[in-house]
Amino acid sequence: MASVPEIFASMAYGPAPESAKPAEEWLDRHGRTFGLFIGGEWSRPGELFETVNPGNARALARVTQATPADVDRAVEAARNAQPGWWALGGHGRARHLYALARAVQRHARLLSVVESLDNGKPIRESRDIDIPLVARHFYHHAGWAQLMERELPGMEPVGVAGQIIPWNFPLLMLAWKIAPALATGNAVVLKPAEFTSLSALLFAELCEEAGLPPGVVNIITGDGRTGEALVAHPGVDKIAFTGSTDVGRLIRVATAGSGKKLSLELGGKSPFLVFDDAELDSVVEGVVDAIWFNQGQVCCAGSRILAQEGIAPELEARLKARMETLRVGDPLDKAVDIGAIIAPVQLNKIRDLVEQGEAEGARMWQPSWNCPTEGYFYPPTLFTDVAPSATIAQVEIFGPVVVMMTFRTPAEAVELANNTRYGLAASVWSENINLALDVAPQLKAGSVWINCTNVFDAAAGFGGYRESGFGREGGKEGLFEYVKEAERRGGGEAGKYAPKADAMLREPSPLPRVLAAPAIDRTPKLYIGGKQARPDSGYSLPVHDAAGRVVGEVGHGNRKDLRNAVEAARAAAGWARGTAHTRAQVVYYLAENLAARADEFGARIVELTGRTRRQGTQEVELSLARLFSYAAWADKWDGRVHHTPYRNVTLAMPEPLGVMAVVCPTEWPLLGFLSTVIPPVAMGNAVVAVPSERWPLLATDLYQVLDTSDLPGGVLNIVTGPREELAPVLAAHDDVDAMWYWGSAEGSAAVERISAGNLKQTWVHAGPATPWENAGAGEGERFLRHATQIKNVWVPYGE
Ligand code: NAI
Repeated sequence: MASVPEIFASMAYGPAPESAKPAEEWLDRHGRTFGLFIGGEWSRPGELFETVNPGNARALARVTQATPADVDRAVEAARNAQPGWWALGGHGRARHLYALARAVQRHARLLSVVESLDNGKPIRESRDIDIPLVARHFYHHAGWAQLMERELPGMEPVGVAGQIIPWNFPLLMLAWKIAPALATGNAVVLKPAEFTSLSALLFAELCEEAGLPPGVVNIITGDGRTGEALVAHPGVDKIAFTGSTDVGRLIRVATAGSGKKLSLELGGKSPFLVFDDAELDSVVEGVVDAIWFNQGQVCCAGSRILAQEGIAPELEARLKARMETLRVGDPLDKAVDIGAIIAPVQLNKIRDLVEQGEAEGARMWQPSWNCPTEGYFYPPTLFTDVAPSATIAQVEIFGPVVVMMTFRTPAEAVELANNTRYGLAASVWSENINLALDVAPQLKAGSVWINCTNVFDAAAGFGGYRESGFGREGGKEGLFEYVKEAERRGGGEAGKYAPKADAMLREPSPLPRVLAAPAIDRTPKLYIGGKQARPDSGYSLPVHDAAGRVVGEVGHGNRKDLRNAVEAARAAAGWARGTAHTRAQVVYYLAENLAARADEFGARIVELTGRTRRQGTQEVELSLARLFSYAAWADKWDGRVHHTPYRNVTLAMPEPLGVMAVVCPTEWPLLGFLSTVIPPVAMGNAVVAVPSERWPLLATDLYQVLDTSDLPGGVLNIVTGPREELAPVLAAHDDVDAMWYWGSAEGSAAVERISAGNLKQTWVHAGPATPWENAGAGEGERFLRHATQIKNVWVPYGE
């Protein structure tokens, strides 16, 4: 062990190992032997093969080689489960996907360690990239499940999807496959790669824990033979494959004429273009992310650096200096940049290709240090003097090896970049946006990253051109891989698969549900800046139940309270700058916390309004569904790209309005409140709300739900009191940017008139109450449109 002065002198990193203990314990609990997960049950282990830790070449566990009979059983289980899963309806499926996302988050550490042990990737990557993206994928697709009926009208699931994934991102590829399939109402049989089965098996346990209906997800392990049987199975309606181009081609042939839908995500040889005005330090870090992320075992790895001649020598020098500082070693060491190669077969393939590169005359460079000898490691490697036709410039190496070539002009750069049979991704580095956006449309690739690389998100589709395959994963475009036009059914059959209106009332919910203690009556205060605040007036107003009895009191808010609330909302402007994903999560969390007190809220509605118990329950359930809808939309209310007829495209970006005042409807005290305040919140606005004047207790009962849901203080402020007293104050307030009002005709007219002061946007509703129970009327895109405004950004693009 080095002494402290020695460490100061060398500035060397010490080991920072992540403990493997919880993962080892998990393996031990299973006797290090796994069967298959079919129909919600674990089969007895069959013929077994070993899965090895590439970091030390030791066996971790043994998993089952699924036979054709196992494939039969798994497909049958999926077939049986699929109709019920689809009949659950979008909201029912959304709840399950949400529960899976939460389960992944709860077990994120264990999943990361298992992934790094089985795959050899650095824990820093599994912990900070793979697993968070897995959770994000399930969250995002919970949203698509919720919105499917509206966003994909006339579409139905294909049925059973057979999904075959590779070893480079085991759990992330599983999420990319399973989340969209489940969201759109399919059941799946998934086969992980034979090198990396463990995280898929752990995921199967999470499915059980999260209460996913049996048979919706089936996990069968095995090698290519199992994959082949799955592809050939007549009970499978769609194959989704990620892996090598060779196997992709076999699958294309095997499924031809079978009527099976197919998506293929195959290899790549992605170009990384560096123009002479690029910021070179960023470029160097970009190369690290492009080719040394996951040891270069990335289908879209930037494996061909194309550098403009003027800066090539400087880039080469800086790259070599950076490569010298990269750390290769124990994947569980948190200070390691590059982990282990998946298996000896892959290591040999890399070695052979590197030898061939040298034999063909290219110059090879590796850092001066040595890799660990235990385990399968390979150093970062740079080739220069590479001919565009050289094997290493054309073939996917799938390792930490990058080739560098030069170009003179942008036209030459484009030509070189497209000189490949692949077309998965490309990165363009230039400080000149005109140049970057001129080049981007000329590149034949499914993703083009400008001044960044290897960035992925559930909201953006990913997939290839040419021999990189077809189909997209992620984004709305990815959903179409799992649906087909609904068959026209005559008479009584019509709408057979349409989700039943009250399906969600019957289905068991995976969200936590506890019986609440009886409500304690007290006088709730106002809710301003995330805290309860006494009303300035010092007065309260009685609240009556249906029989006219006083059941509680609420604060009598006034002008001063509204001023404070608007101020608090202004101060919460950071909400708009946060990510849409964060907003979605908070709204889901609100739903989860409301679900935990559903019985209490239902009882309160019954008590106040005198409606039936069933109606009370229904209002709470509809409120939960509505929260799910806006959580879903939070990261999906996308802008458009306008095709303006010049040398540009125009990005129409919806932006929040700022501070919004919402005077809520009287009827439906909980549903009407959430239906009107949550869309603005989900879009990034801060809200000052005046809840139902008649039954404000449903809004004040929400204070604790808001407190426990990570909603930043000031994003939602609630001031109770007489509607017609408070509305004009808000309409006149110069710091309120937009106002929604549900109430009388006179009140509507007054809001519009008074709003002329700062010309705030208004959206007023007079007359009979909206039928809030009807999703078509009580929620939808018009709520989002009124909560946002479009900013058009013209960017140069193309010729
Ligand atoms: P592979 O394409 O053989 O394996 C991918 C998956 O397909 C695995 O689950 C495997 O069991 C399954 N499979 C294999 N043969 C099959 C068949 N006939 N029918 C159905 N499924 C089958 O990839 P492999 O052998 O693991 O790696 C070989 C090369 O493929 C790598 O060196 C790399 O160049 C490339 N590759 C590309 C990936 C990508 O993300 N585009 C991922 C993994 C590998």
